[in-house]
Amino acid sequence: MRCIAVINQKGGVGKTTTTANLGAALAEQGRRVVVVDLDAQGNLTTHLGLEAPCGSPSIYTVLLGQSSFAEALRETSTPRLSVVPSNIDLSGAELELASAIGRETLLQDAIKAWRGEGEAPADYVLFDCPPSLGLLSINGLAAAQEVQLVVQTEFLALQGMSKLVDVVQLIRRRMNPELAISGIIPCLYDSRLRLAREVLAEIRRYFPGEVFKTAVRANVKLAESPSFGQHVLEYAPSSNGAMDYRKLACEVIAQESRDSELSELPPARSLEELAKEARAAAAKESVVELTPTPPAEGEEAGSAVRAEDLPPLPTEAFKAPAEAE
Ligand SMILES: Nc1ncnc2c1ncn2[C@@H]1O[C@H](COP(=O)(O)OP(=O)(O)OP(=O)(O)O)[C@@H](O)[C@H]1O
Ligand SMILES: [Mg+2]
Repeated sequence: MRCIAVINQKGGVGKTTTTANLGAALAEQGRRVVVVDLDAQGNLTTHLGLEAPCGSPSIYTVLLGQSSFAEALRETSTPRLSVVPSNIDLSGAELELASAIGRETLLQDAIKAWRGEGEAPADYVLFDCPPSLGLLSINGLAAAQEVQLVVQTEFLALQGMSKLVDVVQLIRRRMNPELAISGIIPCLYDSRLRLAREVLAEIRRYFPGEVFKTAVRANVKLAESPSFGQHVLEYAPSSNGAMDYRKLACEVIAQESRDSELSELPPARSLEELAKEARAAAAKESVVELTPTPPAEGEEAGSAVRAEDLPPLPTEAFKAPAEAE
Protein backbone atom coordinates (compact mmCIF):
# COMPACT_ATOMS: atom_id res chain seq x y z
CA MET A 1 0.00 0.00 0.00
CA ARG A 2 1.58 3.28 -1.11
CA CYS A 3 0.78 6.17 1.22
CA ILE A 4 1.63 9.45 -0.49
CA ALA A 5 1.48 12.95 1.01
CA VAL A 6 0.56 15.52 -1.65
CA ILE A 7 2.05 18.69 -0.28
CA ASN A 8 3.26 22.25 -0.65
CA GLN A 9 2.92 24.84 2.08
CA LYS A 10 2.03 27.36 -0.62
CA GLY A 11 -1.70 27.84 -1.14
CA GLY A 12 -3.60 27.36 -4.38
CA VAL A 13 -0.93 25.43 -6.29
CA GLY A 14 -3.14 22.44 -7.19
CA LYS A 15 -2.74 19.98 -4.28
CA THR A 16 -6.45 19.23 -3.89
CA THR A 17 -7.05 19.14 -7.64
CA THR A 18 -4.15 16.70 -7.96
CA THR A 19 -5.27 14.47 -5.08
CA ALA A 20 -8.83 14.21 -6.44
CA ASN A 21 -7.94 13.69 -10.09
CA LEU A 22 -4.81 11.59 -9.69
CA GLY A 23 -6.81 9.45 -7.25
CA ALA A 24 -9.60 9.10 -9.83
CA ALA A 25 -7.14 8.28 -12.62
CA LEU A 26 -5.47 5.60 -10.49
CA ALA A 27 -8.92 4.14 -9.70
CA GLU A 28 -9.72 4.13 -13.42
CA GLN A 29 -6.57 2.02 -13.84
CA GLY A 30 -8.03 -0.58 -11.46
CA ARG A 31 -6.19 0.58 -8.33
CA ARG A 32 -8.02 0.75 -5.00
CA VAL A 33 -7.58 4.33 -3.86
CA VAL A 34 -8.36 6.22 -0.66
CA VAL A 35 -7.94 9.99 -0.62
CA VAL A 36 -7.73 11.73 2.74
CA ASP A 37 -8.82 15.32 3.21
CA LEU A 38 -6.42 16.86 5.72
CA ASP A 39 -7.65 20.40 5.16
CA ALA A 40 -10.35 22.10 7.24
CA GLN A 41 -11.54 23.83 4.04
CA GLY A 42 -12.91 20.40 3.03
CA ASN A 43 -12.24 21.16 -0.65
CA LEU A 44 -11.33 17.59 -1.49
CA THR A 45 -14.52 16.33 0.13
CA THR A 46 -16.76 18.70 -1.84
CA HIS A 47 -14.73 18.17 -5.00
CA LEU A 48 -15.72 14.52 -4.89
CA GLY A 49 -19.38 15.30 -4.27
CA LEU A 50 -19.53 14.54 -0.56
CA GLU A 51 -20.12 16.47 2.60
CA ALA A 52 -19.36 15.57 6.17
CA PRO A 53 -21.70 17.42 8.54
CA CYS A 54 -20.06 18.66 11.74
CA GLY A 55 -19.92 15.86 14.29
CA SER A 56 -20.06 13.06 11.69
CA PRO A 57 -17.08 10.72 11.24
CA SER A 58 -14.31 12.59 9.45
CA ILE A 59 -10.56 12.97 9.59
CA TYR A 60 -11.15 15.18 12.65
CA THR A 61 -12.87 12.40 14.62
CA VAL A 62 -10.17 9.97 13.46
CA LEU A 63 -7.39 12.22 14.78
CA LEU A 64 -9.23 12.71 18.06
CA GLY A 65 -9.65 8.95 18.41
CA GLN A 66 -13.46 9.25 18.32
CA SER A 67 -13.80 7.06 15.24
CA SER A 68 -11.60 4.62 13.40
CA PHE A 69 -10.18 5.29 9.93
CA ALA A 70 -12.53 2.60 8.55
CA GLU A 71 -15.57 4.27 10.16
CA ALA A 72 -14.74 7.59 8.53
CA LEU A 73 -14.16 6.09 5.08
CA ARG A 74 -16.83 6.99 2.51
CA GLU A 75 -17.34 5.61 -0.97
CA THR A 76 -17.63 7.99 -3.92
CA SER A 77 -19.65 7.49 -7.10
CA THR A 78 -16.42 6.26 -8.74
CA PRO A 79 -15.66 2.57 -8.25
CA ARG A 80 -12.54 1.90 -6.14
CA LEU A 81 -12.27 5.55 -5.02
CA SER A 82 -13.07 6.35 -1.37
CA VAL A 83 -12.58 9.46 0.75
CA VAL A 84 -11.95 10.20 4.37
CA PRO A 85 -13.73 13.55 4.47
CA SER A 86 -13.03 16.70 6.40
CA ASN A 87 -15.05 19.66 7.58
CA ILE A 88 -14.66 22.88 9.50
CA ASP A 89 -14.33 20.92 12.79
CA LEU A 90 -10.75 20.30 11.71
CA SER A 91 -9.90 24.00 11.94
CA GLY A 92 -9.52 23.73 15.72
CA ALA A 93 -7.64 20.44 15.65
CA GLU A 94 -4.12 21.90 15.68
CA LEU A 95 -4.89 23.69 18.97
CA GLU A 96 -6.96 20.89 20.46
CA LEU A 97 -4.24 18.36 19.78
CA ALA A 98 -1.38 20.62 20.85
CA SER A 99 -0.90 18.80 24.14
CA ALA A 100 -1.94 15.31 23.01
CA ILE A 101 0.67 12.63 23.55
CA GLY A 102 2.09 11.42 20.23
CA ARG A 103 0.22 14.19 18.42
CA GLU A 104 2.42 13.96 15.31
CA THR A 105 1.65 10.28 14.71
CA LEU A 106 -2.12 10.15 15.31
CA LEU A 107 -2.82 9.57 11.62
CA GLN A 108 0.01 7.06 11.31
CA ASP A 109 -1.48 5.09 14.23
CA ALA A 110 -5.00 5.21 12.74
CA ILE A 111 -3.74 3.98 9.37
CA LYS A 112 -1.68 1.20 10.95
CA ALA A 113 -4.77 -0.01 12.85
CA TRP A 114 -6.85 0.11 9.63
CA ARG A 115 -4.20 -1.62 7.59
CA GLY A 116 -3.94 -4.50 10.07
CA GLU A 117 -1.78 -7.53 9.39
CA GLY A 118 -3.42 -9.21 6.37
CA GLU A 119 -3.89 -8.03 2.82
CA ALA A 120 -3.73 -4.24 2.50
CA PRO A 121 -7.21 -2.64 2.30
CA ALA A 122 -6.09 -0.26 -0.52
CA ASP A 123 -3.33 0.11 -3.10
CA TYR A 124 -2.96 3.89 -2.70
CA VAL A 125 -3.69 6.33 0.10
CA LEU A 126 -3.23 9.97 -0.92
CA PHE A 127 -3.15 12.70 1.73
CA ASP A 128 -4.28 16.14 0.58
CA CYS A 129 -2.27 18.37 2.92
CA PRO A 130 -3.27 21.92 3.89
CA PRO A 131 -1.20 24.94 2.83
CA SER A 132 0.97 25.06 5.95
CA LEU A 133 3.56 22.93 7.65
CA GLY A 134 1.56 22.64 10.86
CA LEU A 135 0.45 19.60 12.81
CA LEU A 136 -1.94 18.31 10.12
CA SER A 137 0.74 18.29 7.42
CA ILE A 138 3.18 16.73 9.89
CA ASN A 139 0.63 13.97 10.54
CA GLY A 140 0.38 13.43 6.77
CA LEU A 141 4.17 13.24 6.42
CA ALA A 142 4.49 10.90 9.40
CA ALA A 143 1.83 8.53 7.99
CA ALA A 144 3.21 8.48 4.42
CA GLN A 145 6.13 6.64 2.86
CA GLU A 146 6.26 9.01 -0.08
CA VAL A 147 5.94 12.72 -0.67
CA GLN A 148 4.85 14.25 -3.94
CA LEU A 149 5.42 17.96 -4.13
CA VAL A 150 2.98 20.00 -6.17
CA VAL A 151 4.55 23.08 -7.77
CA GLN A 152 2.80 25.78 -9.73
CA THR A 153 4.80 26.89 -12.74
CA GLU A 154 4.74 30.58 -11.91
CA PHE A 155 6.97 33.30 -10.52
CA LEU A 156 8.39 32.36 -7.09
CA ALA A 157 7.42 28.71 -7.57
CA LEU A 158 10.70 27.55 -6.10
CA GLN A 159 10.54 29.84 -3.12
CA GLY A 160 9.97 27.82 0.01
CA MET A 161 10.78 24.52 -1.69
CA SER A 162 14.07 24.05 0.11
CA LYS A 163 12.28 24.67 3.42
CA LEU A 164 9.79 21.97 2.47
CA VAL A 165 12.55 19.54 1.56
CA ASP A 166 14.23 20.30 4.93
CA VAL A 167 11.00 19.51 6.75
CA VAL A 168 10.70 16.20 4.89
CA GLN A 169 14.23 15.34 5.95
CA LEU A 170 13.53 16.29 9.54
CA ILE A 171 10.43 14.08 9.68
CA ARG A 172 12.42 11.27 8.13
CA ARG A 173 15.18 11.59 10.74
CA ARG A 174 12.93 12.06 13.74
CA MET A 175 9.85 9.91 13.18
CA ASN A 176 9.49 8.25 9.79
CA PRO A 177 12.71 6.77 8.38
CA GLU A 178 10.78 5.37 5.37
CA LEU A 179 9.80 8.80 4.05
CA ALA A 180 11.19 9.88 0.66
CA ILE A 181 10.22 12.39 -2.00
CA SER A 182 9.04 10.33 -4.97
CA GLY A 183 8.12 13.07 -7.40
CA ILE A 184 7.51 16.73 -8.19
CA ILE A 185 4.25 17.47 -9.98
CA PRO A 186 4.21 20.69 -12.05
CA CYS A 187 0.68 22.10 -12.08
CA LEU A 188 -1.29 24.93 -13.65
CA TYR A 189 1.19 24.92 -16.52
CA ASP A 190 0.50 27.21 -19.45
CA SER A 191 3.06 26.44 -22.11
CA ARG A 192 1.96 29.51 -24.08
CA LEU A 193 3.58 31.66 -21.44
CA ARG A 194 7.30 32.05 -21.67
CA LEU A 195 7.54 32.52 -17.91
CA ALA A 196 5.80 29.17 -17.29
CA ARG A 197 8.22 27.39 -19.63
CA GLU A 198 11.18 29.05 -17.95
CA VAL A 199 9.96 28.22 -14.46
CA LEU A 200 9.36 24.59 -15.46
CA ALA A 201 12.92 24.44 -16.79
CA GLU A 202 14.18 25.89 -13.48
CA ILE A 203 12.20 23.34 -11.47
CA ARG A 204 13.71 20.54 -13.57
CA ARG A 205 17.19 21.99 -13.00
CA TYR A 206 16.69 22.30 -9.25
CA PHE A 207 15.23 18.80 -8.88
CA PRO A 208 17.11 16.89 -11.58
CA GLY A 209 15.43 13.57 -12.42
CA GLU A 210 12.69 14.06 -9.82
CA VAL A 211 10.08 15.98 -11.82
CA PHE A 212 7.31 14.01 -13.50
CA LYS A 213 7.32 14.30 -17.30
CA THR A 214 3.66 15.28 -17.20
CA ALA A 215 3.10 18.92 -16.39
CA VAL A 216 -0.59 19.36 -15.61
CA ARG A 217 -1.75 22.12 -17.91
CA ALA A 218 -4.00 24.95 -16.79
CA ASN A 219 -7.37 23.76 -17.97
CA VAL A 220 -10.72 25.32 -17.29
CA LYS A 221 -12.41 21.92 -16.87
CA LEU A 222 -10.21 21.28 -13.86
CA ALA A 223 -11.38 24.54 -12.31
CA GLU A 224 -15.05 23.91 -13.14
CA SER A 225 -15.41 20.30 -12.05
CA PRO A 226 -15.29 20.85 -8.24
CA SER A 227 -18.42 22.99 -8.34
CA PHE A 228 -20.25 20.00 -9.84
CA GLY A 229 -18.90 17.69 -7.14
CA GLN A 230 -17.10 15.64 -9.78
CA HIS A 231 -13.53 14.82 -10.60
CA VAL A 232 -12.45 15.79 -14.10
CA LEU A 233 -12.53 12.25 -15.51
CA GLU A 234 -16.24 12.26 -14.74
CA TYR A 235 -16.98 15.88 -15.61
CA ALA A 236 -15.00 16.23 -18.84
CA PRO A 237 -13.47 12.84 -19.62
CA SER A 238 -11.74 13.84 -22.84
CA SER A 239 -10.49 17.26 -21.70
CA ASN A 240 -6.80 18.13 -21.50
CA GLY A 241 -7.16 18.12 -17.72
CA ALA A 242 -8.44 14.53 -17.69
CA MET A 243 -5.73 13.39 -20.10
CA ASP A 244 -2.97 15.06 -18.07
CA TYR A 245 -4.04 13.31 -14.88
CA ARG A 246 -4.27 9.99 -16.76
CA LYS A 247 -0.69 10.52 -17.99
CA LEU A 248 0.46 11.38 -14.50
CA ALA A 249 -1.25 8.25 -13.14
CA CYS A 250 0.69 6.14 -15.68
CA GLU A 251 3.94 7.64 -14.37
CA VAL A 252 2.92 6.98 -10.77
CA ILE A 253 1.99 3.39 -11.66
CA ALA A 254 5.40 2.99 -13.30
CA GLN A 255 6.89 3.59 -9.82
CA GLU A 256 4.99 0.69 -8.27
CA SER A 257 8.17 -1.33 -7.85
CA ARG A 258 8.77 0.93 -4.81
CA ASP A 259 6.20 -1.19 -2.99
CA SER A 260 6.50 -4.97 -3.07
CA GLU A 261 2.79 -5.33 -2.19
CA LEU A 262 1.82 -3.81 -5.54
CA SER A 263 4.00 -6.09 -7.64
CA GLU A 264 1.05 -8.32 -8.63
CA LEU A 265 -0.99 -5.46 -10.10
CA PRO A 266 -1.39 -5.36 -13.89
CA PRO A 267 0.55 -2.70 -15.82
CA ALA A 268 -1.19 0.58 -16.67
CA ARG A 269 -3.66 0.50 -19.56
CA SER A 270 -2.49 2.56 -22.51
CA LEU A 271 -3.41 6.21 -22.82
CA GLU A 272 -4.70 5.61 -26.37
CA GLU A 273 -7.17 3.04 -25.09
CA LEU A 274 -8.29 5.32 -22.25
CA ALA A 275 -8.57 8.30 -24.60
CA LYS A 276 -10.77 6.28 -26.96
CA GLU A 277 -13.05 5.30 -24.11
CA ALA A 278 -13.12 8.87 -22.84
CA ARG A 279 -14.05 10.21 -26.28
CA ALA A 280 -16.90 7.74 -26.46
CA ALA A 281 -18.05 8.72 -22.96
CA ALA A 282 -17.84 12.39 -23.88
CA ALA A 283 -19.53 12.06 -27.25
CA LYS A 284 -22.03 14.73 -26.23
CA GLU A 285 -19.38 17.02 -24.87
CA SER A 286 -18.78 19.90 -27.27
CA VAL A 287 -15.69 21.42 -25.81
CA VAL A 288 -13.07 23.20 -27.85
CA GLU A 289 -9.77 22.85 -26.04
CA LEU A 290 -7.05 25.37 -26.70
CA THR A 291 -3.96 23.62 -27.95
CA PRO A 292 -0.94 25.15 -26.25
CA THR A 293 1.84 26.43 -28.46
CA PRO A 294 5.01 24.38 -28.08
CA PRO A 295 8.07 26.26 -26.77
CA ALA A 296 9.97 28.14 -29.46
CA GLU A 297 12.98 26.21 -30.63
CA GLY A 298 16.31 27.16 -29.08
CA GLU A 299 14.66 29.49 -26.61
CA GLU A 300 16.78 29.74 -23.52
CA ALA A 301 15.44 29.32 -20.06
CA GLY A 302 16.21 32.52 -18.24
CA SER A 303 13.95 33.08 -15.32
CA ALA A 304 13.24 35.46 -12.52
CA VAL A 305 13.89 32.54 -10.17
CA ARG A 306 17.16 30.82 -10.97
CA ALA A 307 18.15 27.44 -9.63
CA GLU A 308 21.69 28.65 -8.91
CA ASP A 309 20.38 31.41 -6.63
CA LEU A 310 18.80 28.83 -4.36
CA PRO A 311 20.51 26.97 -1.54
CA PRO A 312 21.94 23.57 -2.47
CA LEU A 313 19.29 20.88 -2.56
CA PRO A 314 19.60 18.31 0.23
CA THR A 315 19.51 15.28 -2.06
CA GLU A 316 19.21 12.81 0.86
CA ALA A 317 15.47 13.45 1.00
CA PHE A 318 14.98 11.89 -2.41
CA LYS A 319 16.65 8.61 -1.69
CA ALA A 320 14.84 5.59 -0.36
CA PRO A 321 16.26 4.85 3.13
CA ALA A 322 18.40 1.91 1.97
CA GLU A 323 20.09 4.05 -0.71
CA ALA A 324 20.75 6.90 1.71
CA GLU A 325 22.78 4.79 4.10
N1 LIG B 1 -4.52 22.69 -13.80
C1 LIG B 1 -5.47 23.56 -13.42
N2 LIG B 1 -6.12 24.29 -14.35
C2 LIG B 1 -7.06 25.21 -13.98
N3 LIG B 1 -7.41 25.44 -12.71
C3 LIG B 1 -6.80 24.73 -11.75
C4 LIG B 1 -5.81 23.75 -12.04
N4 LIG B 1 -5.37 23.22 -10.88
C5 LIG B 1 -6.06 23.83 -9.92
N5 LIG B 1 -6.92 24.74 -10.42
C6 LIG B 1 -7.80 25.64 -9.68
O1 LIG B 1 -6.95 26.47 -8.89
C7 LIG B 1 -7.51 26.65 -7.59
C8 LIG B 1 -6.53 26.12 -6.55
O2 LIG B 1 -6.37 24.72 -6.75
P1 LIG B 1 -6.36 23.71 -5.53
O3 LIG B 1 -7.51 23.95 -4.61
O4 LIG B 1 -6.20 22.35 -6.08
O5 LIG B 1 -5.02 24.16 -4.84
P2 LIG B 1 -4.49 23.78 -3.39
O6 LIG B 1 -3.02 23.77 -3.47
O7 LIG B 1 -5.16 22.56 -2.89
O8 LIG B 1 -5.00 25.02 -2.55
P3 LIG B 1 -4.96 25.17 -0.95
O9 LIG B 1 -3.53 25.42 -0.64
O10 LIG B 1 -5.85 26.33 -0.66
O11 LIG B 1 -5.45 23.88 -0.36
C9 LIG B 1 -8.84 25.93 -7.60
O12 LIG B 1 -9.83 26.85 -7.92
C10 LIG B 1 -8.69 24.90 -8.70
O13 LIG B 1 -9.94 24.56 -9.29
MG1 LIG C 1 -6.23 22.24 -1.11
